[in-house]
Amino acid sequence: MGKSKGSRSYLNPKLPIGRRIDDLLRRMTLDEKVGQMCQYSGLSEESETWVREGKVGSFLNVVGAEATNKIQRIAVEETRLGIPLIFGLDVIHGYSTIFPIPLAMASSWDPGIVKRAASIAALESSSQGIHWTFAPMVDIARDPRWGRIAEGAGEDPFLGSAIARAMVEGFQGSDLADPNTIAACPKHYVAYGAAEGGRDYNTVDISERTLREVYLPPFKAAIVDAGACTVMSAFNDLNGIPASANRQTLTEVLRGEWGFDGFVVSDWNSVGELVNHGIAGTAAEAAKEAVTAGVDMDMCADAYRRSLARLVKERKLSIKVVDEAVRRILRIKFKLGIFERPYADPGRSKVVKSKENVEAALDAARRSIVLLKNEGNLLPLDKKISSIAVIGPLADDRYAPLGSWSCQGDPKDVVTVLEGIRSKVSAKTKVLHEKGCEVEGSSTEGFAEAVRIAKDSDVAIVVVGERGDMSGEAASRASLDLPGLQEELVKAVHGAGVKVVEVLMNGRPLSISWSAANVPAILEAWFLGVQAGNAIADVIFGDCNPGGRLPVTFPRTVGQVPIHYDHKATGRPPSEERWTSKYIDLPWTPLFPFGHGLSYTSFEYSGLKVERKGKGRAMEVKIALKVKNVGGREGDEVVQLYLRDAVASVTRPVKELKGFKRVTLKPGEVKEIDFALTPEQLSFLDRRLERVVEPGTFTVMVGASSEDIRLTGSFEVKERIAFSEGRRKASRRRGINQAR
Ligand code: GLC
Repeated sequence: MGKSKGSRSYLNPKLPIGRRIDDLLRRMTLDEKVGQMCQYSGLSEESETWVREGKVGSFLNVVGAEATNKIQRIAVEETRLGIPLIFGLDVIHGYSTIFPIPLAMASSWDPGIVKRAASIAALESSSQGIHWTFAPMVDIARDPRWGRIAEGAGEDPFLGSAIARAMVEGFQGSDLADPNTIAACPKHYVAYGAAEGGRDYNTVDISERTLREVYLPPFKAAIVDAGACTVMSAFNDLNGIPASANRQTLTEVLRGEWGFDGFVVSDWNSVGELVNHGIAGTAAEAAKEAVTAGVDMDMCADAYRRSLARLVKERKLSIKVVDEAVRRILRIKFKLGIFERPYADPGRSKVVKSKENVEAALDAARRSIVLLKNEGNLLPLDKKISSIAVIGPLADDRYAPLGSWSCQGDPKDVVTVLEGIRSKVSAKTKVLHEKGCEVEGSSTEGFAEAVRIAKDSDVAIVVVGERGDMSGEAASRASLDLPGLQEELVKAVHGAGVKVVEVLMNGRPLSISWSAANVPAILEAWFLGVQAGNAIADVIFGDCNPGGRLPVTFPRTVGQVPIHYDHKATGRPPSEERWTSKYIDLPWTPLFPFGHGLSYTSFEYSGLKVERKGKGRAMEVKIALKVKNVGGREGDEVVQLYLRDAVASVTRPVKELKGFKRVTLKPGEVKEIDFALTPEQLSFLDRRLERVVEPGTFTVMVGASSEDIRLTGSFEVKERIAFSEGRRKASRRRGINQAR
């Protein structure tokens, strides 16, 4: 870098960041400004040249202290202004120590464990030169055909918001400049999970009410509550204006309503894809659409590098738009402290896959397992069992447990189910194994051996589900059944007359109706990461009492989709009556409901007290109850609080999750559980999309799932409470999705 640092106040960490940005911006050429807005994947001769010319602001998929330091040295020491690169990576559920997939961790209903997992991911990835993760994925998903349901926290905005906050806090810690933390990037902004038909990248067409009450809340939680400092714009068309060109969501909501001052990065080539969407005729037009809507950094479309400077010179784009985008990017680079600490410290690598990190992954895996069924208390099994058959294509698979987006995870680090069981049972126990069939395929060659070893065993553990690449991006399925001949394998083993425990490894709800009706015990194990086998064995043999609960509804068949617990009543709520809202060929209820999960013990709920105090915005509703462990072993209960606004000016869901607490109780132990509701939590968007609480009766439901309601109560609200949401005034003139 040229002149001495002394005269460059942007390099002075003692100065306020605003002044450092002003000083640096003033010195930058147009090309250098546009350079900060360009991100590329991996290194190449060309991109190295661009770095040297000051034309790159960020890379993704460059990992390791050596690789990041090499290219960073060029940016910092060989360019005119020495602006450091920011390195991003998809650190979705772990860097090298791979944790359960996000949908699994959401099943823990334990924000603490989620935060811990994110902080370990930040610790490991930051030691390898990473400054920024493209996570958390906070897209609400109500269509399990959509493969990316695996990457989020399920169907509910309240649970999704709690998980979003926890992940951002885990990634970013309390100080963005802390070398052990990384910038978060809630994605994919916005409503990507509402893709028609559950088909990835497909059109989204939803009402502004649904957008604001279902899909925006987890982003608001991540950004406004937890302070996420970047956001990723989505691929999808949103009501006619693609999310990566949607000024209303990217600028008017994100910045106008929420005051977000970080930067927005596009999804991979989502700027370039505006041409495919048909709202831009050329890459240059796409670049202009995106940057004026509020996308500050172009991931891998190379549209900004090729077009923005020319558009400014031709007076087709104001330099003010470019300056504002660069200002936001520089703000985060200064906040991250990478001007002061541009290089990774190779000496920090020992944090990767440390013993405590792996133990945390085991703990997260244990807490993510959901016991779906346990007829006759077949589980837990005795470790001294004399003979056990471990069957299925995923029983000894070390790839599937890593799930999608497994970052730097190594299958060699995975403990398979077979390995977990072998290390758990007594030395005298005979453990037999047979795959039986592939995850996908039409061969039943392995069935006979599977049946033979099942007949020769006291219990058969059948591990079935999906491969890790059958969910995640570009992995939508038109069916929710077990792929291939796996259900036939379960039936064949079941037909051998042995007791069967079915272990599911999957990235989405599966319509396992036959198993639910015939198999005595079923564990939902999702993709649990490197410690999958040990966690599953701990649950099967009782060293861990499962406490997970479903963050997403399991349909009986794909024909029921969309099906979610917080549905509206309709004018003809489903009932045995013919002329009501249901199917004639299937019960209208789900296979397993949102919030469902069993335990090896049982809990009793009592003493519900509901008290409304205060008025207006100062009103508070206190809800208290007691939960007792009435079984014989310690266990966790997830106490769930649901609310219904019985009569309102718009139709309201039959119930909405408004609180939850996962508590551990010893046998006989009683705990008081308290919830406090604010007027905001009672509010909704009225006919004018104004946020209000209306007078009337609210029904309180507390239970062990959205269907297993144990106590009910109610309270009255006497007055109308309005919330000043600035955006609402503007939207009266122009809906969120009307043309600019
Ligand atoms: C992908 C995904 C996004 C990811 C990005 C970078 O296409 O949509 O979730 O963060 O590209 O890999």
